[in-house]
Amino acid sequence: MRDQNRMPLVEALQRHIQKGSVSFHVPGHKNGSLVEGQVSKAWEYDVTELAGLDDLHAPEDAIREAQELLTEHYQSEKSYFLVNGSTVGNLAMILGVCNEGDVVFVQRNCHKSILNGLQLANVKPVFLHPEFDEQTAVSSGISQATLIQALKLYPNAKALILTYPTYYGTVYDIKSLIELAHGHEINVLVDEAHGAHFSCGAPFPSSSLGWGADVVVQSAHKTLPAMTMGSFLHIGTDGIEHKRIEHYLGMLQSSSPSYPIMGSLDYARQYIASYSVEDIDFFRDKRNNFIKGLRGAGYEIIESADPLKLLVRLQGFSGYELQEELENRSVFAELADPYQVLFILPLIKKGMTFPFEKALLSMKAIEPSEGIPELILLEKQQKITALRHSFKEMEKKEKGWAAVDEAVGKTAAEVLIPYPPGIPLFYPGEEILEESISELKRLMKLGAKFQGGQKLDEGKISIFF
Ligand SMILES: Cc1ncc(COP(=O)(O)O)c(C=O)c1O
Repeated sequence: MRDQNRMPLVEALQRHIQKGSVSFHVPGHKNGSLVEGQVSKAWEYDVTELAGLDDLHAPEDAIREAQELLTEHYQSEKSYFLVNGSTVGNLAMILGVCNEGDVVFVQRNCHKSILNGLQLANVKPVFLHPEFDEQTAVSSGISQATLIQALKLYPNAKALILTYPTYYGTVYDIKSLIELAHGHEINVLVDEAHGAHFSCGAPFPSSSLGWGADVVVQSAHKTLPAMTMGSFLHIGTDGIEHKRIEHYLGMLQSSSPSYPIMGSLDYARQYIASYSVEDIDFFRDKRNNFIKGLRGAGYEIIESADPLKLLVRLQGFSGYELQEELENRSVFAELADPYQVLFILPLIKKGMTFPFEKALLSMKAIEPSEGIPELILLEKQQKITALRHSFKEMEKKEKGWAAVDEAVGKTAAEVLIPYPPGIPLFYPGEEILEESISELKRLMKLGAKFQGGQKLDEGKISIFF
């Protein structure tokens, strides 16, 4: 066992800063000396591949050691620092494992980076629609029954891509899905963007790495104290070709990876590796008091499987309205949906402070009112869907517009993503289903924001002829 309290890259950076060196190298801010004011301190860590600071794309020294500590902590075959978010991890994971033309099962409520990866790899996606989680009122994971049915329909599938946990911190029986897939020699790739902290054990759910997932991608920056974009990719089993994934990481990531981001990843690994039982108890106490205070102030709190996530509802407010009220009082939630806002709590350690009281005080000023937003269950009727055209065919097909009310049965030509939580309603090449149109109308009425949908404000959707 190595010493998980060490931070080889942070230490190398600090040694470099202490030298008070003269910079005749990139970046252009020259160790922050061209940046005025206090903020310049942060620039000092932003250096480049200098002596002693190693190279992310060919690590031999501090970065290699930092990645070895990462590998050991997550008990993977091999783990990597990512400087372009889970976005790049998902792309490299798909390109590094799937071959052109492969049939690939994909959990439908996936992030757009997964969809982009499928297109780049030119595979044939088969979407497996998730179950509806009544407690959180959002989609969760896919059921075993759906996977069994998909295996019967597509016995030659090569990979299964899952999202675990969901943005809302819900989990499902991923162990059985992994076992089922492995029984059919199917690789399991997991977008675990929201689960980098699961390695600290109960009461947090288990990571899919522990259940035998083949490749797992985590956004350290989402739940650990890492800088934005800082993420991890873990190879979980020896059946995966490391070199192929490394090839794509080298291709897709910047040749000037950010040292502040990499240093923060080294710090984040050390932070979670040293997260103790006392820290967990401390976090739990703070969380429970906050929940108690919120409930006392009239809020409805839905606790997710991941204790770091809280769903906050207030009678008389849609999630979007509540988010606005909170922002007016300088309390910023992670996201809002028709029913609630999502808080991501801080994974604090014993003795740390966080302004829970301040938030509570601001939130007490918002009073519940009459009228409860109608909770409509959105169970998808069709559990397995494939694209009508391949990605290559779609590049050549002619497009046009259809009125929202006349679009059912046509083929979508644009992606339409309600934000948050960023799960596409339509995807190019998919048949437009009646249930998707009803959901679109409902979200529009509730004031949801959309990505894509160029002419949505004119009531039109892009379709293929
Ligand atoms: C489930 C999921 N996967 C991947 C991503 C992309 O992660 P990143 O922001 O680290 O690129 C997100 C971002 O919100 C996400 O929610």
